[in-house]
Amino acid sequence: MNILILGSGGREHAFTLKLSESKKVNQIFVAPGNAGTDKIATNININPTDFAAVKQTVLENDIKMVVVGPEAPLVAGVHDFFLADNDLKYIPVIGPKKDGATLEGSKDFSKQFMQKYGVPTARYQSFTKENLTEGFTFLGTLAPPYVLKADGLAAGKGVLILNSLEEAKAELKEMVSNQKFGEASSTVVIEEFLKGIELSVFVLTDGKNYKILPSAKDYKRIGEGDTGLNTGGMGAISPVPFADDAFLNKVEELVVKPTIEGLQKDGIDYKGFIFIGLMNDNGNPSVVEYNVRMGDPETEVVLPRIESDLFDLFDGVANQNLDKKSFSVTSKTATTVMLVAGGYPEVYQKGKEISGFETIENSIAFHAGTTIKDDKVVTNGGRVMAVTSFGETIEEALEKSYKSIDKIHFDKMNYRKDIGFDLI
Ligand code: AMP
Ligand code: GLY
Repeated sequence: MNILILGSGGREHAFTLKLSESKKVNQIFVAPGNAGTDKIATNININPTDFAAVKQTVLENDIKMVVVGPEAPLVAGVHDFFLADNDLKYIPVIGPKKDGATLEGSKDFSKQFMQKYGVPTARYQSFTKENLTEGFTFLGTLAPPYVLKADGLAAGKGVLILNSLEEAKAELKEMVSNQKFGEASSTVVIEEFLKGIELSVFVLTDGKNYKILPSAKDYKRIGEGDTGLNTGGMGAISPVPFADDAFLNKVEELVVKPTIEGLQKDGIDYKGFIFIGLMNDNGNPSVVEYNVRMGDPETEVVLPRIESDLFDLFDGVANQNLDKKSFSVTSKTATTVMLVAGGYPEVYQKGKEISGFETIENSIAFHAGTTIKDDKVVTNGGRVMAVTSFGETIEEALEKSYKSIDKIHFDKMNYRKDIGFDLI
């Protein structure tokens, strides 16, 4: 079978590599892909939210399954587009329809959903410019730090965590009255600050049955010791020592089951990944957010740990018989360290030649923001490459990643040297 993967990051390179190992997968196309996917699949230079171009790609290349990497095409309704089209409606899409994608597309919706189905999460209220004064009052009932979230998608920038009440009030006004994050912040969720340590839990569901995939910890801040600006993610580790069986059982009972049941009760037929970002506060899970896709860079440690055929799980999603499928996971630890362009997550340059990655032996270099220019691999984004390694321990895996990174070069390359610092 031929498969189309939508997206262009390290996550999509990891999907491509894993699916290329399946005997049941013939050709893989990636749209638009990167220099890494170009080596092992066929890149198609289209925008994943250009559905007419996606349709043409599917029909021209005899594609029989579509795997959606990022949230944007899902929130824009790519799955609904397929179901409404006579030529495409029998082609399975791994990724929810628009209704399910609202779990990520609207924080207000996802908070209401959690409250309705008893999923543990921070106390919250939502505000618009119409009830701004009530927003100020609600802020006054909370203890600092104050958490303000733009309701809609804001390219990962829509969450503000503020220490002073005055600042929180000013930012709330900026968000709802002056559209600080555009239309995305015309509604703002204000919620209690959650203490604890964060974990990413990944669930794959066919709408009825589900599988819990390996969980991971992501390092979101640009600076060592978790300081500085938020990024898309600077590194990840799987498994996570504190996410032991007892904790993951709690997550399954208190979060995963009510989520899957809630989707069914709401009449949302959900086929795809649910990425649950949660806080572990003294052994108790509390959900920070849902995403409707895999995490990046978490995918670069989660998928390499899966030893069995990933396509088989996707086939189970497509045919709604995921309960008949099984998968195996290595007990080894996987770590990934993200190489980023100097200046990221603020201003940075593209087009820098990358060298040395072909010679690394004990790691996998997943390409993220890379492209090919004049036969050379050059940087094409803020997050450039994720270097993944295995070890019996976190330390052993990290040592391999950092040794491999010593061989890779591009102008103004930056990375965190302390991934896993809080787990070791
Ligand atoms: P989000 O875009 O919802 O993932 O939020 C970005 C980051 O802000 C999360 O990964 C958390 O680190 C942090 N965050 C969000 N909500 C809360 C909260 N209620 N309490 C503490 N930290 C939070
Ligand atoms: N690494 C976090 C995310 O993918 O949203």
